[in-house]
Amino acid sequence: MRKYLIAANWKMNPPPKGWDAKDSPYRPQEKIEVVVFPTHLDLQACAKAGLTTGAQSGRPEQTGAFTGDVSMQMVQALGCRYVLCGHSDRRAFHLESDAFVAEQAAAAITHALIPIICIGETETERDAGKSKAVIERQVKPLKLTNDCIIAYEPVWAISRGDPNRPAATSADAEEMHAFIRSLLPKDLRDHIRLLYGGSMKASNVKELLAQPNIDGGLVGGASLKPEEFREIVKIASEK
Ligand code: PGA
Repeated sequence: MRKYLIAANWKMNPPPKGWDAKDSPYRPQEKIEVVVFPTHLDLQACAKAGLTTGAQSGRPEQTGAFTGDVSMQMVQALGCRYVLCGHSDRRAFHLESDAFVAEQAAAAITHALIPIICIGETETERDAGKSKAVIERQVKPLKLTNDCIIAYEPVWAISRGDPNRPAATSADAEEMHAFIRSLLPKDLRDHIRLLYGGSMKASNVKELLAQPNIDGGLVGGASLKPEEFREIVKIASEK
């Protein structure tokens, strides 16, 4: 049984109102895992308040001349358990390559962090019928272990602040998730959790999670709205 994981990717936003309240939906839950991804500046406070936390990025090197960056080792020392590797924002704005993302994921594992490796095709790649080829290219360099998590985030479905952007249909998402699972090493295939990301909301989470190969979600925009996030967590917990 793969336990559902709902991740709140707050991106470059402050923690949402009430994040540290006793009944905050961002706190660890009984039936599912909930993990928050604040900015690096807010990581320590979130970890100290008892939230399960992850960093939005981390470099593989331990220290060095990498202005503006932090290392996997540093985020682990702050109390983080997870780290995002290769989010499409990082691939687009920081030019992170497939090989570099694989390096980050390997460094995360070395430092006892669980990498959530983000993959997904852009709209142009999708329109050119290259979705699966892109996914294959992104998965290929990864040195996966049982604990690794992969988030399929079709770039064209990521809200980027637009609450009306449609998510992938559950059938399309499932087709891609099943394809991703088929690419995994046989001995890990049933263990690795595959999250869906891209306009996941309270209104579509039930249908998405009903798919056999979707094991949770990486939620951006909707994770900034505490009441909507509470609903997402509730629906995921009921499954
Ligand atoms: P979204 O973001 O839920 O706002 O589409 C998801 C993500 O970028 O991780």
